[in-house]
Amino acid sequence: MRANTWNGKNDVRVVEKPDPTIVDSRDAIVKVTLTAICGSDLHIYDGFIPSMERGDILGHEFMGEIVELGSDVKNRAIGDRVVVSFTMSCGECFFCKRGLFSVCERSNQNADLAAKLWGHSPAGLFGYSHLLGGYAGGQAEYVRVPFADVGTIKVPDSLGDEQVLFLSDIFPTGYMAAENCNIEKGDTVAIWGCGPVGQFAIRSAFMLGAGRVIAIDSVPERLKLAEAGGAHPLDYTTVDDVNEALVELTAGRGPDSCMDAVGMEAHASGVEGVVDRVKQFAKIETDRPAVLRDVVMSVRNGGSVSVPGVYGGFVDTFPMGSLVNRGLTLKSGQTHVQRYWGPLLERIEAGEIDPSFVITHRLSLDDAATGFETFKNKRNECFKVVMTP
Ligand SMILES: NC(=O)c1ccc[n+]([C@@H]2O[C@H](COP(=O)([O-])OP(=O)(O)OC[C@H]3O[C@@H](n4cnc5c(N)ncnc54)[C@H](O)[C@@H]3O)[C@@H](O)[C@H]2O)c1
Ligand SMILES: [Zn+2]
Ligand SMILES: [Zn+2]
Repeated sequence: MRANTWNGKNDVRVVEKPDPTIVDSRDAIVKVTLTAICGSDLHIYDGFIPSMERGDILGHEFMGEIVELGSDVKNRAIGDRVVVSFTMSCGECFFCKRGLFSVCERSNQNADLAAKLWGHSPAGLFGYSHLLGGYAGGQAEYVRVPFADVGTIKVPDSLGDEQVLFLSDIFPTGYMAAENCNIEKGDTVAIWGCGPVGQFAIRSAFMLGAGRVIAIDSVPERLKLAEAGGAHPLDYTTVDDVNEALVELTAGRGPDSCMDAVGMEAHASGVEGVVDRVKQFAKIETDRPAVLRDVVMSVRNGGSVSVPGVYGGFVDTFPMGSLVNRGLTLKSGQTHVQRYWGPLLERIEAGEIDPSFVITHRLSLDDAATGFETFKNKRNECFKVVMTP
């Protein structure tokens, strides 16, 4: 089969790989009909995710048709059209039973490795390093899907691939990130990052009762799309200090909740930005936490901070004093997709939202290298790339 592989920093290549086969009785083989590039893939592309190996198949947002099935997958049939969750969950362990699917204790086959870095291991992920299981990803013609009875959702024929694909990751991610803001009716929520995750977070925050969403980025077309979603756009490059700008917009108090939908590669100007880059380069810190600092410092006293943005290791100069002394709540995590995708599919079916609004680029899988380069550099107003094998 053809598959998109990682070959080092800024280097992805579509090559021939062996077809996947059933390894476990709860596996399915899915023939991919549509797959996407996620902002999280850019952290791999930029060389910030450890334990990637040359030739690893990328991709964790994908859907398709079940073409082979293990004997213990009783709730799916060959021919079913499914979306696949980006994290793998057994559905039966301590964590899965509590709805904490993305920290399933059974799905990371390299759990020891992850526990060394993070204390304990989260779930396995498709196409996202050996630390997270070394599983082949979905930017390919075929994928092996472990725990397919829990890791897939059947989608109705009345909805096209583009309308349901993002149930695999970014729609539930935006929704969970908004839920983690603990929104009360009429609240003001400030969201850093107007990429695909930020856009779904904006729309989800309104679904959860926010009165006002302030959307922060510097890319004009991204701010425009945030505005189309009902948010108040704020270009952080046009103000001296984001914190002060937010104080002004919130009658001197600060937003009720703040969200970091940017993650470890945040852009920062001035001395702080340079220092973070040098520290990251010198491996003194693994992540650039400019936005993480902003969200903590800007939220009102007693407010909530939500961090869907991905961080890999350690950050420097985290304002812990602000968090403690002002009584803030911080919530984060890879998304517990299975908790959200059923209700979100219902919203799509009801016509409340059509997630395909984020798609700007439709490519063949063979053009994955162009897709990555275009998405990373936001060329041609690129927002979200989907690819057809
Ligand atoms: N928690 C999860 O389960 C999960 C799932 C999917 C993605 N993510 C993460 O969410 C983050 C966003 O993903 P995406 O697909 O939207 O990525 P993206 O790269 O398209 O979007 C990031 C946006 O942040 C903006 N940005 C950079 N520096 C900024 C700053 N200082 N202030 C404000 N905005 C700034 C960029 O201009 C860009 O528009 C990534 O870190 C990704 O890894 C997490
Ligand atoms: Zn993702
Ligand atoms: Zn589990």
